[in-house]
Amino acid sequence: MTAIRDIYAIEPEGSTWPVPQQYDVRFNWDYDDGRQTMLHLYRKGVEMQWNAETRIDWSQELDEENPEQLPDQMLPIGTMPRYLAMSEKEKAEVRRHFQAWQISQFMQGEQGALICAAKIVTQVPDVDSKFYASTQVIDEARHVESYKRLLEKFRVAYPMTPPLQELIDQVLRDSRWDMTYLGMQVVIEGLALAAFQQIRDNAQNPLAAAVNAYVMQDESRHVAFGRLALRDFYPQLTQKERDEREEFLLEASYLMRDRFDAVEVWKRLGLDPAECAAHMYDSGFMQMFRNSLFTRIVPIVKDIGLWGETIQKGYGEMGILEFANADVQALQEADESIARDFDARRAYVESVVSRAAALEPAE
Ligand SMILES: [Fe+2]
Ligand SMILES: [Fe+2]
Repeated sequence: MTAIRDIYAIEPEGSTWPVPQQYDVRFNWDYDDGRQTMLHLYRKGVEMQWNAETRIDWSQELDEENPEQLPDQMLPIGTMPRYLAMSEKEKAEVRRHFQAWQISQFMQGEQGALICAAKIVTQVPDVDSKFYASTQVIDEARHVESYKRLLEKFRVAYPMTPPLQELIDQVLRDSRWDMTYLGMQVVIEGLALAAFQQIRDNAQNPLAAAVNAYVMQDESRHVAFGRLALRDFYPQLTQKERDEREEFLLEASYLMRDRFDAVEVWKRLGLDPAECAAHMYDSGFMQMFRNSLFTRIVPIVKDIGLWGETIQKGYGEMGILEFANADVQALQEADESIARDFDARRAYVESVVSRAAALEPAE
């Protein structure tokens, strides 16, 4: 058995991370006031539970040279001359570390989601939201478990990257209940969905692809929850209060756009961070990632009614206003049906194996 603490490439600071809290937990004595759409989402959350132990075939292994079997274009430094000049063995090491860094951020971020969902249960005023959020708590625990098991197979792990920690810290310390939703359900989940999708759609390794497909199936409910809850709430706020949220969104958008690179990995592998950064900036890799990131976030921001002057001006300057029209509904439906395709694939493979076992032995 591999323990994550034994495979950290960089030691995390301390063995736990305390984040002080200052907010009231809230009981609600009105049990019958549920919104139909919210209760429907809760029911769906209950019905669509799954067990990571059995739904995923953990006997599958990662590839030795290229764990998730991703094309080198998905390595941010995959076309950098210094990388191209490396031996096959060195290249394999870069791939393993970068991919493990990414899966580590997923695992650490999922723990953030687990804690935020639990906070929502205690803090949100409506009973229907408490019900729904409780299903998300177990979803997020399952996601932590799934990425942890995948990460063990890499034999290397990374601590939470400082920009992600900064964002989660800010979201958790804020005493306004909607900020946890906005930061976690809209911004961080949006970032996560974009990153999961890249692996789900490009990994030739069936285990890595399946883990991401199944996690995404749940995440589409989480995003729907954020939309539902916030769409009802934001019109009730004053313009000044909405402006504060828009400013937070802009700040978080810049943070994600500019600081989610794997600088820890380049440093750990003895590469020149400046050379890597210059290469990533010019290579179009980050551009591709940002586009898919903002496709997941901008339409939601518009939909929940945080679409004042501040955000439109800011997103205009970032060149991402056009993403407001992306069809998130279609993306969510695709996320659900792709997960079902992975179930069908596994069922097919198993049926062939069992039919082959029933045949007469070969001469
Ligand atoms: Fe999650
Ligand atoms: Fe989630």
